[in-house]
Amino acid sequence: MQRLSNTICDCFEEASRLEEVFAVLTAETNSLEEQTADINLLNLLIVDDERSIRESCREVAVSLGFNTYVADSPERCYRALDTTNVDVVLLDLRLTGTNGIEVLREIKRRRPDTAVVIMTGFASVQSAVQAMKSGAYDYVTKPFNFDELRLVLDRVTAHLKLATENRLLREQVKSKHGFGAMVGQAPEMDRLYRIIAKAAHSTHPVLILGESGTGKELVARSIHYSGAFRDKPFIPVDCGSLVPTLIESELFGYVKGAFTGAVRAKDGLMAAADGGTVFLDEVGELPVDLQSKLLRALQEKEIRPVGGTRAIPINVRILAATNRDLEAAVQQGSFRRDLYFRLNVLTLRVPPLRERKQDIPLLAGHILERVARTTGVQRNISDDALKLMLNYEWPGNVRELENCLERACALTSGPTIHIADLPTALQNYHTQAPVSSSVSLESPAISPLAELEKRAILHAITLLNGDKLEAAKQLGIGKTTLYRKLKEYGSVV
Ligand SMILES: Nc1ncnc2c1ncn2[C@@H]1O[C@H](COP(=O)(O)OP(=O)(O)OP(=O)(O)O)[C@@H](O)[C@H]1O
Ligand SMILES: [Mg+2]
Repeated sequence: MQRLSNTICDCFEEASRLEEVFAVLTAETNSLEEQTADINLLNLLIVDDERSIRESCREVAVSLGFNTYVADSPERCYRALDTTNVDVVLLDLRLTGTNGIEVLREIKRRRPDTAVVIMTGFASVQSAVQAMKSGAYDYVTKPFNFDELRLVLDRVTAHLKLATENRLLREQVKSKHGFGAMVGQAPEMDRLYRIIAKAAHSTHPVLILGESGTGKELVARSIHYSGAFRDKPFIPVDCGSLVPTLIESELFGYVKGAFTGAVRAKDGLMAAADGGTVFLDEVGELPVDLQSKLLRALQEKEIRPVGGTRAIPINVRILAATNRDLEAAVQQGSFRRDLYFRLNVLTLRVPPLRERKQDIPLLAGHILERVARTTGVQRNISDDALKLMLNYEWPGNVRELENCLERACALTSGPTIHIADLPTALQNYHTQAPVSSSVSLESPAISPLAELEKRAILHAITLLNGDKLEAAKQLGIGKTTLYRKLKEYGSVV
């Protein structure tokens, strides 16, 4: 009898375990559809290894209007963070077999803007304090009742709304400068300003080309804010960083019930722009099926929300940017030729910084002034450091110049930025053979092999913006060898 009862117990346990596995699997299979969930509803990820806790938290969160996801292990939590725009994580600090604080840190590393609420036992308030120090937003102590959880989730919602409002306000202030925010007097920039002015007075699509960090987004903003519809929204969409399913629902919206989690209909950004501009950043990354949908939207000036059958008219101007060679992508068949022609009515190429080095002092002054407005310290650059900056090729363009100077300002305590305050990539560049930016094997003079090797290594590191691991890979040598060589050259590693 006892044996029978044990067997029945075992069966129940097994059934409950299977049910749990099934719940997690279902959540996983739904996750792709759920990725497309409402961008206005907040997404909450519940991380707990106890199914009953996951269920009850989910119930409360859904009643508060959250889109919910669940994970029963850190690995599943990280996977969800990588594929979904998670706004809030409800994290059990005592996941079996893991250090909750480490999980919290990893969440913040992957998604710094995500608010993490810790769930902890009464006995471990101390660890909640530690969690708050490690970046948690708030905590609830287990066992908690629904009202407590509701209160905390309400607080997080208010906090996230405020953060979004602040970000929008900052965007508006930034854009107020419009055209004026662009610095540069080189002839290449004059040409650019003229085309921007022309583009601003038309409503045709513009394709903005240029290397990373050259200022493509700034150009797009300038076109929008110098035009007649500057009071209408300017909406950037990063086609490179969004999951394809998310891009579609972001751009075109969706109808109620289009997928799990679509509890109400949602307008897409194309409709929300309403007379303004949608800026398709990294348009070269757009998947082919979405390219067709975008083309149809541009041709017919109407969109079809995900899951919907009715077409909605749109009135929007499209600006697109890419640092990829779109023509080559068209040749290779990864970008639709007809869409390329439609986006490419006007083309604008933003010159790399190395082609307008005369603007470096002006840009540097502009950046130092901006830093001074926040720190209250006006800094200048020593002649040697400026010479080095003028010599350098700036593969990361204006963004690299900004990073370099902001870092230098943080490092130096005095009013002048010296060579020693500049990043290693620039300093190594300094140690190279004079001005030659490439290794010439055709020089009439014979160079010792060791010298050629040294120049090849330093040149690679400079080109790769200081990335030594990538340099070692591309040079075909081990990273230990590279570090040893740099040590021999006396370079700062
Ligand atoms: N002419 C300029 N004057 C002042 N600031 C500039 C200029 N060009 C670029 N910047 C600044 O450099 C940074 C990079 O610019 P932006 O984001 O527009 O580049 P991007 O070409 O879109 O880069 P990515 O391809 O990496 O997205 C921004 O902070 C921008 O304000
Ligand atoms: Mg950009």
